[in-house]
Amino acid sequence: MPVSSFLRALLLSLLLGLPGLASAGDPLVIAHRGASGYLPEHTLPAATLAHAQGADFLELDLVMTRDGHLVVIHDLTLNTTTNVQEVFPERTGGGSKAWVMDFDLAEIRQLSAHERRGRSGDTAAFPERFPLSRQIFQVPTLEEMLDLVQGLNQTLQREVGVYIEVKGWEAHQSRGLNPVLKLMEVLDRYGYRESTDPVWIQSFDDVALQELRQAGSRLKRVQLLGENNWRMTSTDFDFLKTPEGLQAISGYADGIGPWINQVLTGRSSSGEAQATSLVEEAHSLGLAVHVYTLRQDRLPRYVDTFEELLELLLNQVRVDGVFTDHPDQVVRFLK
Ligand code: G3P
Ligand code: CA
Repeated sequence: MPVSSFLRALLLSLLLGLPGLASAGDPLVIAHRGASGYLPEHTLPAATLAHAQGADFLELDLVMTRDGHLVVIHDLTLNTTTNVQEVFPERTGGGSKAWVMDFDLAEIRQLSAHERRGRSGDTAAFPERFPLSRQIFQVPTLEEMLDLVQGLNQTLQREVGVYIEVKGWEAHQSRGLNPVLKLMEVLDRYGYRESTDPVWIQSFDDVALQELRQAGSRLKRVQLLGENNWRMTSTDFDFLKTPEGLQAISGYADGIGPWINQVLTGRSSSGEAQATSLVEEAHSLGLAVHVYTLRQDRLPRYVDTFEELLELLLNQVRVDGVFTDHPDQVVRFLK
């Protein structure tokens, strides 16, 4: 490893607690869309529960409204997690998609948020989770989430960070919206400015992360890794997963966010992790590795329990953090 890369890796390891390079910190427990295994994703109650369950970071997905506000929602459309069909039937007729970017914040305020619907549209994506029929929640803004987290940090005397994803960079650009600049403005207002602040910015879109850097942001960045055949962005994940791609990422980001299958391929009969080389290669470049998404109610075929999955990822492959719908169970495992 060149001296400059080694020094960078060492500095990052001191900051992030990477295993194998310096004092190993505990892996980060990142509450995926809040404690979304227990309450509807991206609602204020789900965030509150994640804080109470001991998560280190609250994961937030952001989409911009037509009038330039950042709302916390995973999909670019409102159809699967709100009652938009009931409130705005004229804009969702014939199964039309209700794009967040076509609604003003005042209109989104009129909606109820609920548990995620499955593909059929009639039943919940996770039937054992919070009942789909209970529509007592709302779609929060980024500012409301930050008010909540910072308030809880004060009353509970424990600092939980935010791990923010900019969704759909290319779709925003095609409508003349720039969620990255707005995000920087809001975070600055809430005192999040430096690489040492408890914030990570993540995106599947490499251009969005580069935009963030070019705009002068010093906040930590994570390049999420998907698959090219998901067709969600023009980012070339086939390239980014290679050693050359990881080297390129290390020029604009501090970590990678692969999905489980890009890290683990199985488990041997003796219980050993069968892992790809991705984590080792990323660590050698000083990149942190935060894996998505660990769900107690949707396990890979090669494990029987959530604890087995945690053992493979945290104790054997030694990733630096996990996105999970069940933060309480990861916290318990780490204890
Ligand atoms: O941000 C990590 C993980 O959340 C990426 O997948 O689709 O849940 O946003 P998604
Ligand atoms: Ca996300």
